[in-house]
Amino acid sequence: MTVAQWLAASGLPLAEARALLAAALGVRRELLVAYPERAVPDDAGELFARFTERRRAGEPLAYLLGVREFYGREFAVGPAVLIPRPETELLVELALHRVARAEAPRIVDLGTGSGCIAITLALELPHAAVTAIERSAEALHLARRNAQRLGAHIELLQGDWYAPLEAERRFDAIVANPPYVAVGDPHLHEGDLRFEPALALTDGSDGLACLRAVVAGAPAHLAAAGWLGVEHGYNQGAAARELFAAAGFQDIATVRDAAGIERVTHGRAPR
Ligand SMILES: C[S@@+](CC[C@H](N)C(=O)[O-])C[C@H]1O[C@@H](n2cnc3c(N)ncnc32)[C@H](O)[C@@H]1O
Repeated sequence: MTVAQWLAASGLPLAEARALLAAALGVRRELLVAYPERAVPDDAGELFARFTERRRAGEPLAYLLGVREFYGREFAVGPAVLIPRPETELLVELALHRVARAEAPRIVDLGTGSGCIAITLALELPHAAVTAIERSAEALHLARRNAQRLGAHIELLQGDWYAPLEAERRFDAIVANPPYVAVGDPHLHEGDLRFEPALALTDGSDGLACLRAVVAGAPAHLAAAGWLGVEHGYNQGAAARELFAAAGFQDIATVRDAAGIERVTHGRAPR
């Protein structure tokens, strides 16, 4: 069968089918556009058929491809980590803006997952010292792999939020995209979320438990005028601002993402 025939038979949107066929063939997608009449070798066709079956059953495209782009770079992903979301680039932008003028900023990313936030910050800020903390050993393994393949030098620590840090260790910026979906939220049973790790999605509670831990623990690990930025759910902006205020933060603000949704709350460390 030809490229065009395999794509038509897949039952998937063309862009997805092309991505999967390119992966099965080990070629760039553009080649499939340029040569639709080329014959597909049997082994690649069989692999593509298996991919399309899994995709039709709902498996995320990123897990099938094994990669997802974030901030212009390709990150390896798999079922142990959250698939990086475009809205998380907002948190990266805000952190970059915040530490742009610092000479050698110290930054920690809590719940690093694939490492997409920490690695991006390290690559965008070559003079920064970036630490990434993650509870899941499998996720940390993938973050390490991503750091190596993208050439980022970051410190990776396993543990529960601030627990792996010495009590006196301070940072100029703390960033986190913690699990913030409430345990009974029906979205957990829809789309890609059905396949992503529960530990990455939900706090097993009201959706604010991890945000509470991250915000409450931040002042003890922020340098003078240090900055905390957290991503949160579409309806958690007000609650996040309250958590920041209760922890004594100043200049508290929430920023909306490209879809107009309150997405990141940030503030300056209490004096
Ligand atoms: C929403 S995912 C974010 C992953 C990645 N930072 C991103 O933005 O794509 C939350 C991450 O926090 C990790 N996590 C959950 N509970 C944790 C805890 N108590 N301490 C450290 N990390 C935790 C999860 O394993 C998951 O990788």
